[in-house]
Amino acid sequence: NWKLNNFLKNSINNIKKRVKNKKKVLLGFSGGVDSFVTAYIIHKAIGDSLNCIFVDTGLLLETEKKKIYSLCKKMHFSIKIVDAKNQFLSKLTGIVDPETKRKVIGKEFISIFQNESKKIKNIEFLAQGTIYSDIIESSVFSKKHSSDSIKSHHNVGGIPTTFKKLKLIEPLKKLFKDEVRKIGKKLGIPKEILYQHPFPGPGLGIRIIGEINENKISILQQAENILLQELINYEIYDSVSQAFIILLPVKSVGIKGDKRTYEYAAILRVINTEDFMTATFSHLSYNFLEKVSNRITNEVDGINRIAYDITSKPPSTIEWE
Ligand code: XMP
Repeated sequence: NWKLNNFLKNSINNIKKRVKNKKKVLLGFSGGVDSFVTAYIIHKAIGDSLNCIFVDTGLLLETEKKKIYSLCKKMHFSIKIVDAKNQFLSKLTGIVDPETKRKVIGKEFISIFQNESKKIKNIEFLAQGTIYSDIIESSVFSKKHSSDSIKSHHNVGGIPTTFKKLKLIEPLKKLFKDEVRKIGKKLGIPKEILYQHPFPGPGLGIRIIGEINENKISILQQAENILLQELINYEIYDSVSQAFIILLPVKSVGIKGDKRTYEYAAILRVINTEDFMTATFSHLSYNFLEKVSNRITNEVDGINRIAYDITSKPPSTIEWE
């Protein structure tokens, strides 16, 4: 406790010392615990000189989006929401290759932040919610796969050269996730944010295999919503590390009521992990699996078949793209 108090005091003081003369700070806000804690600390140091930007890519879970919108009203700091749904969708139309998708999404994020940074007078700093494991992971990763990386994460691996003129603020870069959570708790950040499952930056864009369109996004949002409800109903949410649905570009024949259907097949992916570098599929009850499958296939127009992914990482990765 003493250590955490000290950390908070020091990091607030440091930011106060660095950000002087009403200079401004831009923070790309994701809704995750790291970005919440980062925003709280910076706001405590410099108040409204902090500019938080949340990008609505249109590739978010319905619940994520609602949470951000409702939190925005309760926060001490304000968050600007940039509606970029159409922009992302039009850039992604026709793209099938997973790495191309990731790069297009990453590039779009950067262009939005650049655009926003130009609107902020006196901007001098870019803040990131980087934590220690992000740094380790990206350096281990780049050593192991220097010429051939597995997936390009848009939010790891340093800032693009276009932002180099902005100075970096990364208050959490020496902390582990559990320490970030302790600080978050101290700052009064609600439990559902402190212990939420990770959600990747590229969002549903990498959970729709093959080409992305509005209809598929809506189908997947409905399915993920049902999954989340049942994880909570069955009190499983806190005992698994991540749970989501993958929408396949494959249709199969089925029957709903007394009618033939020809709809998408989807995959349920639920994993347990310590560090997300390796993972095992979660050994869930048939009861739960049956409930999720029944609800999704009955309630979501567009999905008539669910399979459970029983591979571990490695050889699979957690996400499919
Ligand atoms: P993989 O699929 O590489 O995923 O086994 C490991 C963890 O990272 C998340 N993930 C991402 N997170 N930006 C993120 O912020 C990304 O581009 C990204 N890709 C994967 C994934 O959800 C899992 O928790």
